[in-house]
Amino acid sequence: MNQRTLRDRVFFLGATDWDRRLFDSLIPLPDGTSYNAYLVQGSEKTALLDSVDPAMEPMLMEQLADVPALDYVVAHHAEQDHSGSIPAVLAKYPNATLICSTKARGMLIDHLAVPEDRIRAMADGETLSLGDKTLHFIHTPWVHWPETMVTWLPEDKILFTCDFFGSHLATSSLYASDEPYVEEAAKRYYAEIMMPFRKTIQGNLKKIEGLGFELIAPSHGPVYDRPATILDAYRDWVSDRVSNHVVIPYISMHGSTELMVDHLIAALIQRDVNASKFNLAVTDIGKLAIALVDAATIVIGTPTVHVGPHPSVFSATHLANALRPKLRHAAIIGSYGWGTKAAEQIAGLIPNLKVDVLGTVMCKGAPRADDYAALDTLAESIAAKHRELNA
Ligand code: FEO
Repeated sequence: MNQRTLRDRVFFLGATDWDRRLFDSLIPLPDGTSYNAYLVQGSEKTALLDSVDPAMEPMLMEQLADVPALDYVVAHHAEQDHSGSIPAVLAKYPNATLICSTKARGMLIDHLAVPEDRIRAMADGETLSLGDKTLHFIHTPWVHWPETMVTWLPEDKILFTCDFFGSHLATSSLYASDEPYVEEAAKRYYAEIMMPFRKTIQGNLKKIEGLGFELIAPSHGPVYDRPATILDAYRDWVSDRVSNHVVIPYISMHGSTELMVDHLIAALIQRDVNASKFNLAVTDIGKLAIALVDAATIVIGTPTVHVGPHPSVFSATHLANALRPKLRHAAIIGSYGWGTKAAEQIAGLIPNLKVDVLGTVMCKGAPRADDYAALDTLAESIAAKHRELNA
């Protein structure tokens, strides 16, 4: 077995996917990713925790080549990047039982055609003895599917969390303390995957708080050997705190909308408000998601295409609505040639965002003095609202 040891008879397995650049045909992976599995050998029984993406199945099977017996395979999460190689593992070990949460049972049957009689579902808080090691199963729903759970191994003070606290990061570093990029990768992961479930995650964090653990071992990215760092980061991300920051996703076809965005940013900076522009023609959508984690305000900038917003703006607005960031305020700016319904259509795309719309500034053709004055007024309104928030 090509093993990396975390603790006595607790091994880090899995595969590093250095070249993967897209997840779910949607999420950019600029730093690749990993699919971590873990082998826990107790004095009487052996368990494999999670598997790997089906594309990496041969790598996991090679690591298991000299593991003669498996009694349990634990599926923390039914999504295929962790569960996809479970059928092959169950075929290699015909006596192994698949362990999962009660909600995951049906999902593993639906997605992977696992025979029902190979599955044993665990209630929240239930335990499984491996002899001198014990697996405690704790349901942590909506990180980020409804069936997700984590496993606590008290004898070795390890919490195995699958997607929860994960980071899409390909690295040879076993531990996060050796990896300078992990915090941004983890924030990107939270932003893209976990953010819609912020309130539920607040409850999940409380649920694991009292457990004694020295390592958090997720199934993407390195193992956290200083768990307080990622726990504190998550507490901040899921909190109600917003920052003095305006996020401006926009696109420009002939330069008018860009002139307006640049004027607004300068006006915000003059009023001590931070701002970031994201040109949707070239931006990494993950960077936009990261900025949305704690921004107080979003300003959407669009030219008009056939009466409505530019399709790239339509798509980014739909995504921002789906991610449910904790934004407090919004505004729409942009341009049109002869007529527009772009602002009305964008406003209809954000029902999940519980925001005050502070204003709309749409200019006909190139922006003129009165358009710039309207942007100054908008900047003043945003600055005043941010002062009220103490953001
Ligand atoms: Fe890493 Fe939701 O799977």
